[in-house]
Amino acid sequence: MQIVHVISDLPHPANQTVGFVPTMGGFHEGHLSLMRTAKAECGFVVASLFVNPTQFGAGEDFERYPRNLERDAEMAQAAGVDILFAPTTDEMYPRRGTTIHVPAVTTLWEGASRPGHFEGVATIVCKLFNVVRPNVAYFGLKDLQQCLVISRMTADLNLPVTVSLQPTVRESDGLALSSRNMYLTESERAIAPELQRQLISSALALKDNNLSSEEVEVQLRHAKSSLEAVGFRVDYFELIDLSSTHSTHSAKEGSALIAAAYLGKTRLIDNIIL
Ligand code: PAF
Repeated sequence: MQIVHVISDLPHPANQTVGFVPTMGGFHEGHLSLMRTAKAECGFVVASLFVNPTQFGAGEDFERYPRNLERDAEMAQAAGVDILFAPTTDEMYPRRGTTIHVPAVTTLWEGASRPGHFEGVATIVCKLFNVVRPNVAYFGLKDLQQCLVISRMTADLNLPVTVSLQPTVRESDGLALSSRNMYLTESERAIAPELQRQLISSALALKDNNLSSEEVEVQLRHAKSSLEAVGFRVDYFELIDLSSTHSTHSAKEGSALIAAAYLGKTRLIDNIIL
């Protein structure tokens, strides 16, 4: 595996399918499984490692986000990555220039709680697509709204990339893997899997039961208060329509339960697609 820091050093192998895994580092099994899938499906795999400043809001964890190039490079190499692209901020943003705003699907949930976040994500992902020139790009469904934003941007701008969305990888107790899990204290870590448990029990309660809007509301409120009772501060716990990202009261195919909640200072997100 080669580590590349400069855009002009990126190779563009002819006659090979290029798989791309964009990341911000702090690798865990979720990243590695994307890399392995890319390797299984594509002849040549590029992963990027760039803690993108434009997707962090004031007071968020940009400064303390895990950074360890040596560790991450070893893991990426073992997962079959051919090129690890680790640019500097100046390389990716020689100036604060053009940005990409994806309408509609960025307005609610993560978009509302983290203003500017999706503009930062869309802009860096579009730039990375342009410099890496992949055929297929892999993203984890744990960041469901991010997946919707990137899919929408790729379609709207006719970017010549296939976006491949991959299942969330979890710890054995159900906690979705995230680089931010390392911020959890021991006691918070013990509580954290409750987020997925509430999503599962709500999904079971909502699915195929033809509940009225009021009954759906009651179920969502119950899930929120159960989480708050064990120590979460819930940002949202909602049933949404995946095409619009708006709330829905109909738990049908094409809908998802999405949740974001704080444990102490750590913000966890998770979802279940119905
Ligand atoms: O999911 C992430 O790690 C980031 O949002 C991404 C897609 C690499 C863009 O910086």
